Amino acid sequence: MPDTDATAISADLRAEIVETAVTSRASVRAFLPTAVPKETIARILEAASYAPSGSNMQPWKVRVVTGAVKDRLVEAVSAEHDAGRMQERDFKYYPTPFPEPYLTRRRATGWGLYGALKIEKGDKEAMHRQHGRNFLFFDAPVGLIFTIDNSLEMGSWLDYGTFLQNIMVMARGLGLATCPQAAWCSFHSTVKEVLEIPDDEIVVCGMALGHADTSEIVNDYRPVREPVDGFTQFLGFDG
Ligand SMILES: Cc1cc2nc3c(=O)[nH]c(=O)nc-3n(C[C@H](O)[C@H](O)[C@H](O)COP(=O)(O)O)c2cc1C
Repeated sequence: MPDTDATAISADLRAEIVETAVTSRASVRAFLPTAVPKETIARILEAASYAPSGSNMQPWKVRVVTGAVKDRLVEAVSAEHDAGRMQERDFKYYPTPFPEPYLTRRRATGWGLYGALKIEKGDKEAMHRQHGRNFLFFDAPVGLIFTIDNSLEMGSWLDYGTFLQNIMVMARGLGLATCPQAAWCSFHSTVKEVLEIPDDEIVVCGMALGHADTSEIVNDYRPVREPVDGFTQFLGFDG
């Protein structure tokens, strides 16, 4: 059960703990091989299941993979990626054409990441290799594959985001790291084949979970955020 006793710890400490969990979460792209116990993953998912969803539909379905099953998935999808056999996505993640200001932000994030890795612009082979690390779950010991029933509507996809964020923040609270990964959607058929996922489910994304390898420079990169005033209008506060 979630702790609903607001007096158990001071309000300031509570705010600080939650704020730190949220703001210190970052996408980690290099993990240590240290195993994560099944009980810990179950605890994370149980906490995440308190996510709100329209009519409490709870549209999430999760496959947690490790060991031989993860190896099979990694091998099958990496082979497809290396052969350049991307599969048309079940849903469109990004708009075409890519409008501003999102294009600028996307480029800044991409180049920031490749810059941290000293990958030069135009070095397609190095970029392909780095992208391919997605399909190793960045060496994390645990991978998660998220799916949703294809009969559900956009509202349930909105719900899904709250669930994913709960997982990432709860993992952070336990000293673990994550990387959400839409990259797996480009190989959804292979993912579904290996994990025997029924045809009426759509692969929403994957996620790497484990202990961050803090010695890897890729994990130092922090994309910047817009200031609150850049995306918010405060209305009616001045009387
Ligand atoms: C749904 C979703 C899918 C993502 N897919 C990928 C991915 O496939 N590979 C990757 O390296 N990062 C992926 N990211 C991570 C974003 O690049 C990252 O969240 C963003 O740059 C902000 O950085 P931060 O998470 O470190 O704060 C994804 C993030 C989200 C929310």
